[in-house]
Amino acid sequence: MTRLLQFAGALAIAVMALSPVARAADPSDVIDYRQHAMKSLAEQLASLNMTLQGKAPAENMVLHAQTLAVVASTALKAFEDKVPGGEAKPDVWAKWDDFSKKMNELAANTAELAKVAQSGGAAAVQEKLKAGAMTCKGCHDVYRDAAKK
Ligand code: HEC
Repeated sequence: MTRLLQFAGALAIAVMALSPVARAADPSDVIDYRQHAMKSLAEQLASLNMTLQGKAPAENMVLHAQTLAVVASTALKAFEDKVPGGEAKPDVWAKWDDFSKKMNELAANTAELAKVAQSGGAAAVQEKLKAGAMTCKGCHDVYRDAAKK
C-alpha cells in the first residue's frame, strides 16, 4: 500500500513537472489556437444575432452573450507568443501595448454585454450592439491582413 502511494505521489509530481513544458510551442499550433479563439468569437456573435432576430431560441441569448465574453477573455493570451503568420500583421507584436489595449477593450465590452443581457434582455443587448460594443473591425483594420493566409 505504501509503495503504491509512493508511486502515485511520484507520478503526480512527474505530471505536474511536465505539464508546463508540454504546452504548445509549435508555431502552427500557436496560430491555430488564436484562430480558433477568433472563429469562436465569430460563431458566438452570429449565434447571438440569430437569437436576437428570432431565428434561433431566444432562451439561449444570454448564454451566447456570456460565451462571447468568456471566449473574448481568452483571446489576448492566445496572441502572447510572438508568432507572425496566419492573417496577423507583425504590428500585433510591434505595437503590443495598443493591440492588448484593444483586446482588453473587447473583453470588457463583451463582459458588459453579458451583464446587460441578463439584466436588460434582448432590447438592451441590441442597443449595446448598435452603440458599437463589438470592436472587431476596429482591430482587424489595423492588425489583420485578411488577404494573406
Ligand atoms: C485586438 C484585436 C482584435 C479584435 C478586438 C478582434 N480580432 Fe479577430 N483577428 C485579429 C487578428 C490579429 C486576426 C488574425 C489572426 C491570425 O490569423 O493569426 C484575427 C482574425 C479573425 C478571424 C479569422 C480567423 C481565421 O479563421 O483565420 C475572425 C473570423 C475574427 N478575427 C473574428 C473576430 C470577431 C467576430 C471579433 C469581435 C467579436 C474579433 N475578431 C475581434 C484581431 C482582433
